[in-house]
Amino acid sequence: MSSALLLTNIAQLLTLRGSHAPRRGNELRALGIIEDAAVLCVGGKIVSVGSRKEAAKDAWVKQADVLEIDCRNGVVIPGFVDSHTHPAFMSPRLVDFQKRIEGATYEEIASAGGGIRSSISGVREASKKELTAKVVSSLNQMAAQGTTTVEAKSGYGLSLDSEIKSLEAIRDSAKQWPGTVVPTLLGAHAVPPEFKDNPEEYVRLVCEEMIPQVAKKKLARFVDVFCERGAFTLEQSERVLAAAIHHGLQVRAHVWQLSPASLDALYRYKPASFDHLDYMSDDDIATLAKTDTIATLVPGANFFLGLDKYPPARKLIDAGAAVALATDFNPGTSPTVSMPFVLSLACTHMKMTAEEAISAATINGAWSLRVADCKGSIEPGKDADLAIFGVRDYREIPYWFASDTCSGVILNGEPRLKT
Ligand code: NIG
Ligand code: FE
Repeated sequence: MSSALLLTNIAQLLTLRGSHAPRRGNELRALGIIEDAAVLCVGGKIVSVGSRKEAAKDAWVKQADVLEIDCRNGVVIPGFVDSHTHPAFMSPRLVDFQKRIEGATYEEIASAGGGIRSSISGVREASKKELTAKVVSSLNQMAAQGTTTVEAKSGYGLSLDSEIKSLEAIRDSAKQWPGTVVPTLLGAHAVPPEFKDNPEEYVRLVCEEMIPQVAKKKLARFVDVFCERGAFTLEQSERVLAAAIHHGLQVRAHVWQLSPASLDALYRYKPASFDHLDYMSDDDIATLAKTDTIATLVPGANFFLGLDKYPPARKLIDAGAAVALATDFNPGTSPTVSMPFVLSLACTHMKMTAEEAISAATINGAWSLRVADCKGSIEPGKDADLAIFGVRDYREIPYWFASDTCSGVILNGEPRLKT
């Protein structure tokens, strides 16, 4: 394979250049567009970005082994950074789906033993190889929709061995996929049935056994916790995050998904991201906006649960919070791999502009995973992660909802083009 790539014939190149911090307010609208553009990548990195005429003069382009990719007068953006996914599961949850169609809520299903707990046995019984094959298949589907970096959580094994197996499956999948995977331990996703009468003992297991072993084996970069009624209390969540920090891991949390709560105590752990945020109060929004914690919104979950209410994206942006968008790909609340569909939901149901949605799904996702030094924008020196769309105007990406306008991706310099 050629180590140099020239993407050319680009009607609009969205560079998203020039962010030295997570984007807030009006910064979310600056896409750094170059028209009639070209991008040169060498050895998996972006080397030069500019107009097609400038690119033609580049010394590299004159070399014989440059592979030219004709973007057919389409739109090229930084590959999506899907900063919240749960791909380590075996089966779809069709019983829950049917029950919701019949009127049950997500919480009613969960408290009757369904929900997250109904995905446990599939993961515990699966071999690492089987689980790896599932994760690889999801990563490939994500890439087909323009995603090049994926945060991947464990969280359906919920025992020491099966959480480690899930993270090893995520690591093995990452080796089989040319994109980038950022692994997260979500041992504190739900209390498994065998600890039903002693949730404290499960929290102890997460803090004193899972987190230390995962840190020692270098299987995760982040630790996540589902801080919610019916899952883990604020005090239990604090213990999980404190244990993570103690063992050198960074933290993020599922918060305000199902109910309001006072969660200011969590900022002490410097979370990279708070995710969901449906039930934040105006005071919570004002507090979050003053911190470096990214507000990650996952409207696919609201869509799939059939909720009328969506996270308060406008209020967050207007208050100055740094907003990111992600799929929350999981079998219970958001079985979608599609970042373009999430962008459509952000525009139609959360009133984000197309520009805000694209920034939130690329550069701010990169900030939330703390990889913005190499991901999330098209700038010399960054990783060659790009997504090509067969449209003339970037606003068509959210406009053609639930469609497939992505015509190819470059993953760390490796092209995957659809014919
Ligand atoms: O992000 N809230 C917790 N976790 C997932 C749902 C997991 C599941 O139902 O399997 C979420 O929505
Ligand atoms: Fe989630």
